[in-house]
Amino acid sequence: MASSSAYLSFVLVICLISPAISGPLKVGFYQKKCPSAEAMVRESVQKALAADPGAVAPLIRLHFHDCFVRGCDGSILLNSTKGNTAEKDSMGNLGIGGFEVIDDAKAKIEAQCPNTVSCADIVAFAARDGVRAAGGFHYAVPSGRRDGRVSLASEVIQNLPGAFFDAAQLKANFAKKGLSLRDMVTLSGAHSIGDSHCSQFTKRLYSFNLTYSQDPSLNPNYAHLLKTKCPRNGPTDPTVPFDPVTPNVLDNAYYHNLKSDEGLLYSDQVLWDAPLTRGLVKDNANHPSAWARRFTAAMVRMGLIEVLTGTQGEIRKNCRVIN
Ligand code: HEM
Ligand SMILES: *[C@@H]1O[C@H](CO)[C@@H](O)[C@H](O)[C@H]1NC(C)=O
Ligand SMILES: *[C@@H]1O[C@H](CO)[C@@H](O)[C@H](O)[C@H]1NC(C)=O
Repeated sequence: MASSSAYLSFVLVICLISPAISGPLKVGFYQKKCPSAEAMVRESVQKALAADPGAVAPLIRLHFHDCFVRGCDGSILLNSTKGNTAEKDSMGNLGIGGFEVIDDAKAKIEAQCPNTVSCADIVAFAARDGVRAAGGFHYAVPSGRRDGRVSLASEVIQNLPGAFFDAAQLKANFAKKGLSLRDMVTLSGAHSIGDSHCSQFTKRLYSFNLTYSQDPSLNPNYAHLLKTKCPRNGPTDPTVPFDPVTPNVLDNAYYHNLKSDEGLLYSDQVLWDAPLTRGLVKDNANHPSAWARRFTAAMVRMGLIEVLTGTQGEIRKNCRVIN
């Protein structure tokens, strides 16, 4: 745990640099229009966490998946309609969750400040509150996003990184969103919390390639454990924690796991195995507070991807449907 003076200076640094990195958005955007907006989101996140300590992971992933498809515009929240299959119903969003927490916050906020706070901003605030709860580090979130009116399942797979991407593909995928190689490795540390369905990695256990049935980059003991949890051709698709030791703590343990060949997804382990990213993994493994600092800065940058502002889009009344 950081000392309180270290924490204060950290907050100060974030405040000083935030104008430079908030792009078209602004920290404290709702200060006058809806002063309790951020507090109401925090309440909803804390309520969800009290009921389920695993509630943080879906919120952080929700923000990522919102931002990488059509920018951070709340498109991930929209329900499918008669003529349209929405993002959330794409296979690329398997296991996506956290919607009830966003709905809960939105309902409270609408009661106090109708038509004022966007769903896209609520997602960004909730992810930040999740990071604070699970990681113990805080950052200010620039806001003022507006909500989009389009959500297409067909855009998900082409924009999100795949679980079998190699390092160069991961780099290219993040570069398309204006994020660096370092941002990509840093944000992947989110895989120190939450879990994955077996279907995202069973190929590594049973049918890797023509030479190896089991991925040689996988620690054999860990592979053995995973096989017991993910039987070949099992009737269901169970989930397995990314970090079996502290599944609800957001920390740099992820990078240590990669160094012991215990990355759950191929796209995790490759960050250690590829020369392109190995140095960045080492750095994040060796310097936990530097990683945490980079993580919050990268979350802020991710939150700026292709945002709608001003009179673009709308402020949805219900996060699951366009007005
Ligand atoms: C680098 C490329 C990435 C790939 C290929 C990837 C892929 C995946 C996959 C396949 C899952 C498991 C989903 C399931 O089966 O239920 C997952 C879960 C998760 N991802 Fe990623 N991800 C990436 C980056 C990120 C980033 C940048 C973040 C956030 C900053 C993130 C946050 C999460 C979280 C928190 C979970 C756990 C969700 C839960 O337990 O509900 N991921 N990811
Ligand atoms: C959106 O879909 C969910 C899950 O199918 C459903 O429970 C909810 O009532 C829907 N909400 C709206 C506003 O259509
Ligand atoms: C199988 O994977 C290994 C390790 O990544 C690699 O060295 C080998 O060339 C691959 N074999 C085939 C046939 O693709």
